[in-house]
Amino acid sequence: MQDLWELGSSPKVIIGMIQKHIQVSDKTKVLDLACGKGAVSVQLAKALGCTVKGIDIIPEFIDYAKKKAQEYGVENLCEFKVGDINEAIKVQKDYDIVILGAVGDVLGTPEETIQKLKGTVKNGGYIFIDDAYGNDKSSGRYHTREKWLLFFQSAGMQLVDEGFNQEDELERLNDEQQSFIVMRANQLKEKYPDKAYFFDSYIKSQQAECDELENEISGVTMLLQVV
Ligand SMILES: C[S@@+](CC[C@H](N)C(=O)[O-])C[C@H]1O[C@@H](n2cnc3c(N)ncnc32)[C@H](O)[C@@H]1O
Repeated sequence: MQDLWELGSSPKVIIGMIQKHIQVSDKTKVLDLACGKGAVSVQLAKALGCTVKGIDIIPEFIDYAKKKAQEYGVENLCEFKVGDINEAIKVQKDYDIVILGAVGDVLGTPEETIQKLKGTVKNGGYIFIDDAYGNDKSSGRYHTREKWLLFFQSAGMQLVDEGFNQEDELERLNDEQQSFIVMRANQLKEKYPDKAYFFDSYIKSQQAECDELENEISGVTMLLQVV
């Protein structure tokens, strides 16, 4: 991951949606759950002047995020902490905006995830979930848009907006990121030949994710409001 800063969600898409739908000031509190290397948090603080707390389980990612916050001059607006988001959601409350970007099922099923996220935002607050809509061809691991809408309805949330990746942009990004992953995994294979199987299967799993995103599912950034 050393060549990549953005590990999943598009900061540009999230910033654009906030500018379109949400009134932001320096009092606005944002929580970025599983923030990775802080690409979304730092660019959000820079663009909007809000305060952001980012939590991720990998200490090296958090160190990187702190360096980026300094580089962008927003270290006063950003706080980064190492932690498990399953624990964090029990104590982090009253945020204006909460982001769960490309984190999969770490918080459980979509229904469980939505309930847990709901507990961290204020009434009337907003939640971003970066996930995917499945279609008829997809494996069943992904819910259709209709299913997601039902989950939101029964949790008392409404879908305010949704952003999709442009297909050509997605392919370009996947190719670029996959080439870095292959290069670094091959370097690691040379260094640790006894773990070659592990690195090969990581390359394969990442390629399978790219293929799935390009062919079977639609990556989507959903903006929800607690009503
Ligand atoms: C695909 S990355 C997305 C990172 C970031 N949200 C973004 O879009 O750039 C998934 C992140 O989830 C983090 N993660 C996985 N399980 C976690 C957990 N239980 N608690 C905190 N972070 C976790 C990983 O360390 C990784 O940084």
